[in-house]
Amino acid sequence: MSGAPGMEPGDGKHAPVLLDAALDALRIRADGCYVDATFGRGGHAGAILGRLGEEGELIAFDRDPEASAAAATLFAGEPRARFIHARFSELGRHLAAGSVDGILFDLGVSSPQLDEARRGFSFLRDGPLDMRMDPQAGESAADFLARASEREIAMVIQRLGEDRHGRRIARAIVAARSIAPITTTGRLAGIIAAAVPGREPGRHPATRSFQALRIHVNDELGEIERALPQAVAALAPAGRLVVISFHSLEDRIVKRFLRNATREAPEWAGMPDVPTEARARLALVGRAVFADEAEVQRNPRARSAVLRAAERVAA
Ligand SMILES: C[S@@+](CC[C@H](N)C(=O)[O-])C[C@H]1O[C@@H](n2cnc3c(N)ncnc32)[C@H](O)[C@@H]1O
Repeated sequence: MSGAPGMEPGDGKHAPVLLDAALDALRIRADGCYVDATFGRGGHAGAILGRLGEEGELIAFDRDPEASAAAATLFAGEPRARFIHARFSELGRHLAAGSVDGILFDLGVSSPQLDEARRGFSFLRDGPLDMRMDPQAGESAADFLARASEREIAMVIQRLGEDRHGRRIARAIVAARSIAPITTTGRLAGIIAAAVPGREPGRHPATRSFQALRIHVNDELGEIERALPQAVAALAPAGRLVVISFHSLEDRIVKRFLRNATREAPEWAGMPDVPTEARARLALVGRAVFADEAEVQRNPRARSAVLRAAERVAA
């Protein structure tokens, strides 16, 4: 892996996934301008900086204030890089149309977010039931579970956790909250474990529900839907869009978006003089890339990762 001196990835707590594949897909030019939409602990960002020359530029985004603190350290004294504390669905507000040569999205949560009990993401570590990537914005998981109807909770768990026990779990949550508010990850994990019949081997019974609540609380799918068109608009001709997804709900959105953006609008198919706005905006670059055995061994988080890339076609 490349990296400028003092630019080692992250703080050692988040191993960047599919790093070489992401750098290759971005096809970094030393004097280009690149965006890391999901800074995390800067694993990918540090490696991108390592490939930039003096004229190059890196703009990093993350909605997590702790990522912001990590960026302040990684980018200290680094004139080529800046960090913007924002959701990536706000990319378009910060990036001029056609101004960047590559944008990377490494979706989901970082290892430090999962590992810190106080962030409330993990059913393995007892902590406040929060799950917000930006704890200053929006509704925590505890607040959602306190106010949502049983039906709403069941739908979230079924749709975003793909858990067939969603209704049963929602019923148990509503019964438990009538005794006392559910404010800790430990209590929620216990309620779910008691509600779910049988055990899936190798998987905690709360895995799917915690995933669902996390995706819901952070509106993760809505964020991706809103961000991708803005990312394409920000790309210069031949600029690259690279997305690493970690579960099928994310990847489905990315695949559908790429499918549509790589075709001309169906109503113009086969017609002459297709107007610019109806033409294909992207061309696919290669096939989907998955982590190899060695990477999965080193970093089990890479097991479910899939990288897709596309290139902006000239308007
Ligand atoms: C998988 S981690 C990225 C890790 C990073 N590539 C690295 O190597 O350190 C995902 C990061 O994206 C951030 N994130 C997720 N959704 C976001 C959104 N909608 N807007 C901004 N940041 C987001 C999370 O806070 C998290 O820090």
